[in-house]
Parts: sequence; C-alpha cells; structure tokens
Amino acid sequence: MNILVTGGTGYIGSHTVVELLNKDHNVIIVDNLSNSKYEVLNRIKRITNKVVTFYQIDVCNKDDLKEVFKNHKIDSVIHFAGLKAVGESTEIPLKYYENNILSTLSLLEVMKEFNCKNLIFSSSATVYGYQSVMPINEEATLSATNPYGRTKLFIEYILKDLCLSDKSWNIALLRYFNPVGAHPTGLIGEDPNGIPNNLCPYITQVAIGKLPYLKVFGDDYDTIDGTGVRDYIHVVDLAVGHVCAIDKITTSPGLVIYNLGAGKGYSVLEMVKAFEKATGRKIAYKITPRRAGDIGTCYADASKAYNEMGFKTIKTIDDMAIDAWRFQQNNPDGIK
Ligand code: NAD
Ligand code: UFG
Repeated sequence: MNILVTGGTGYIGSHTVVELLNKDHNVIIVDNLSNSKYEVLNRIKRITNKVVTFYQIDVCNKDDLKEVFKNHKIDSVIHFAGLKAVGESTEIPLKYYENNILSTLSLLEVMKEFNCKNLIFSSSATVYGYQSVMPINEEATLSATNPYGRTKLFIEYILKDLCLSDKSWNIALLRYFNPVGAHPTGLIGEDPNGIPNNLCPYITQVAIGKLPYLKVFGDDYDTIDGTGVRDYIHVVDLAVGHVCAIDKITTSPGLVIYNLGAGKGYSVLEMVKAFEKATGRKIAYKITPRRAGDIGTCYADASKAYNEMGFKTIKTIDDMAIDAWRFQQNNPDGIK
C-alpha cells in the first residue's frame, strides 16, 4: 500500500514509518520540520534499509499537498502532523487552532479531491478531560482542559461529521495515552526542544547530567505513593497499533475509535525506579506542588483495540526506560 504519513519525521511518526516499512508498505512522508530534523530520514534508512519519499511541506498548504497526491496514488493517510505542547497552547492558542485544525481541513479536502478516503488520526487521551472512573473506555464523556486538547476534540467532531455525511470514508481515531521510550536501535526517539515538558525525557536528561533534578509534581494524590499515575505505552508498541489500524480501516468501513494504551498505570516514583534500574544511576528528585491542570490518575481500558484489531502492548516499563536511556546516551544533544 502507498501510505502518506504527515508529521512522519516526528517522534511517533518516525517509529510508525519504521513499522510500516517493516510490513513492506511504501511510505511517503510530508513534514515541515517545525519540530523534527531531516536527519531522522537517514536514521529510518539505517534501521530499515529502505528509503521513503519525503516532501518538506506544510500540510496547511493545499497546493503543495495536491502535488504530492498527483505524484503518488495514495491509498491511506496517517495524520500525525500537529503542535502538541499543552503549556504552549495556552500561550499561543491561535497558532494551535490554525496549525492543527487548518492542516486537517486542508488534508481532508485534498484527500476527497483525489478520492483517498482512508485516514488514521492521532488523537489523545486528553479528549477525556477529567475522569473519575478508571480505566477509561472509549464511551467516556469527552471534554478538553486546554487549547491543545480542544484542537483534538474539534478534529474528532469534524471527522465524525465527515463520516456521517459520506459513508465512503474509513477513519480511525486513535487516542494515545502516554507514549514513551525509543526505538531499540537508539537511532530514533523523543527529541524535545529545550527543557522537556514530559516526564520521561526529563528523567533521562537528569540521568545524563543536563538537568540537576526532577521536580515531582505533587505527592498528595490518591495513588499508590501519592504521585501521579499514567498509562505509559512504548512508542514501538504504539507504532504497531497504527499498522493494526491500517488493516482495520481498509477491511471494515466507517469510523472506529480506539484507546492505545497499556491498560495499566504507573506512578512517577515507579517510573523513577525503572529509570534508576535502566541507567544504573540515582535520579535526583524533589517533590514540588502539583502542576496546574494535572489529574491524579489516568489509564486506559485497552480491551477494545485488542478485541477488534488484535492490538496489545508487549513492552514493559523496563523496556521503555532502557530504550529511552539508550537513545539519550547515543544522542546527548538530540538528533543532529
Ligand atoms: P512531534 O512534534 O514529534 O511530531 C509532529 C510532527 O509534525 C513534527 O515532525 C512536526 O515538524 C510536524 N508538523 C507539525 N505541524 C505541521 C504542519 N502544519 N505541516 C507539516 N508538518 C507539521 O509529535 P509526536 O509526539 O510525534 O506526536 C504526533 C501526533 O500525536 C501529534 O498530533 C500529537 O498531538 C499526537 N499525540 C502525541 C502524544 C505524545 O505524548 N507525544 C500524545 C497524544 C497524542
Ligand atoms: N511529571 C512530573 N514532573 C515532570 C513532568 C511530569 O512529576 O517534570 C508528572 C506529571 O505530573 C504526571 C506524569 O509525570 O503525573 C506524566 O506527565 P507528562 O507531562 O509526561 O504527561 P501528561 O500525562 O501530563 O500528558 C501527556 C501529554 C499530553 C497528552 C496526555 C495523554 O503531554 O499531551 O499525555 O495522552 F494529552
């Protein structure tokens, strides 16, 4: 199959491209490199021994996208391109609405024009807002607590409306929980700009000595040790989930929604322990007040993805820590 991957040089996109190539799909990547590096393409080639076609374009630009669809007969699209920093989205909301929503509208219009109607969209557990009942299943009420989350929620509604209006679309909304880890080769991984917002890249930067200590945001939640609990999913498992979703949408029509998580939660301090084991180093940390907007516990009911597309995670938190650490050590200053 010819699969167009938007945002394919990014963190989750690059791992998914590797899994698609491993399944002998032909991959075309479009990315504006606003949050990733060209070098990722060389790394993908080193891992798979295969080449992808790459276009450095902005998905918001319909004319550029049309050229890609003219050059290739695209069978399915995986749409990762988007801005994703929660904090930044509260500071520059218009940029988030413009980039995430316009890029999706422009992609959908071009797909329609070229009669390509198979799409996988990167959604997020953030669309569940605050939930009191765990695990969270796909029927839970939806809400958003910040502009980033609202872009995901709005796009989900846009895609649902599209499927209602035209039954020939086949769309999967994949709601990721907390993607972490890196490819076991250590060649690709999470490569944040500046000080990381997320837990695991922060921990690896403490381990390598770039940051002095981890701030643990609160130890007074109603959890095993008082620190926040999340459903961490190894990025390679997550990537495999996309390959399952491609099979699903191309064999059964309409709109499907799946949580992609491990179905189990770990606390911040449990993650710290896993990284201490993986790195053989002490991870310094200090307990600080809760981070605004955080919830205590969030983990997925992962059974629907297993029952309907046979997807389940296989990697452990030790794998996540070992692989994230290998990537950090191999790329102390990020991918160059
Ligand atoms: P990432 O920033 O590493 O990758 C996104 C890629 O999209 C980048 O390479 C960036 O350059 C590109 N991009 C952004 N806007 C673009 C545009 N207008 N045109 C072309 N390219 C553009 O992020 P990621 O972690 O790989 O996330 C991928 C998707 O998954 C995003 O939509 C994100 O919101 C979603 N998601 C991520 C997480 C997470 O924790 N990483 C969780 C849930 C959902
Ligand atoms: N945490 C710390 N210190 C840090 C960073 C995080 O203690 O420096 C804690 C948080 O309080 C939380 C846990 O570690 O308990 C995980 O935090 P992350 O920032 O790594 O992840 P979140 O669960 O807050 O959010 C992530 C993405 C969102 C996405 C959500 C669900 O950043 O975009 O997962 O997919 F919506």
